Amino acid sequence: MAYEPKNFESLLGTKGLSDQLLKNHFTLYQGYVTNTNKVSDGLNVMAKEGKTTTPEYSELKRRFGWEFNGMRLHELYFGNMIKGGKPIDKNTNLYKRIIAEFGSYENWEKDFRAVGSMRGIGWVILYYDTMDKRLFNTWINEHDVGHLSGAIPVIVMDVFEHAYMVDYGLKKADYIEAFFKAIDWTIEPSMDSMIK
Ligand SMILES: [Fe+2]
Repeated sequence: MAYEPKNFESLLGTKGLSDQLLKNHFTLYQGYVTNTNKVSDGLNVMAKEGKTTTPEYSELKRRFGWEFNGMRLHELYFGNMIKGGKPIDKNTNLYKRIIAEFGSYENWEKDFRAVGSMRGIGWVILYYDTMDKRLFNTWINEHDVGHLSGAIPVIVMDVFEHAYMVDYGLKKADYIEAFFKAIDWTIEPSMDSMIK
């Protein structure tokens, strides 16, 4: 069963992110969907042909997480934005957990922005560790290095250069500002109930 690209065109017109930048980004995302399907299909064919001990199979297997996360992280990133943004509900377990972990929402935001300002390309994810009930602002290198096993991504921010250079050049902090204004803090009750 192939993955289908999701439509995020409702984001067009988001303040601080030009339509040109967003359209390029959607096209790039669609490439990850295509390649996730290609890699998955290729691995299945090779397995059926008894080629699982070949270097080609190994390399394709290693690549799968990169393509898959390239697809899924973009879906989470576009999915956690909305035109005009939606503020966090202070009655949610998520908000209370942020306060408990970071002392204040402002401290959390400052830390998240700082992680986003790190040199390099990748992602910043606010992760919730379901086993030990902790929150972490996490740096993900490229798409696949640094994920926290078993943790749930809560907020995902793309900090690859393609996410901002068309609009902001090297002014990454201005892009992060625009992202923060577009965050949709809506949290599903089923997910919020997992946060203690
Ligand atoms: Fe991206």
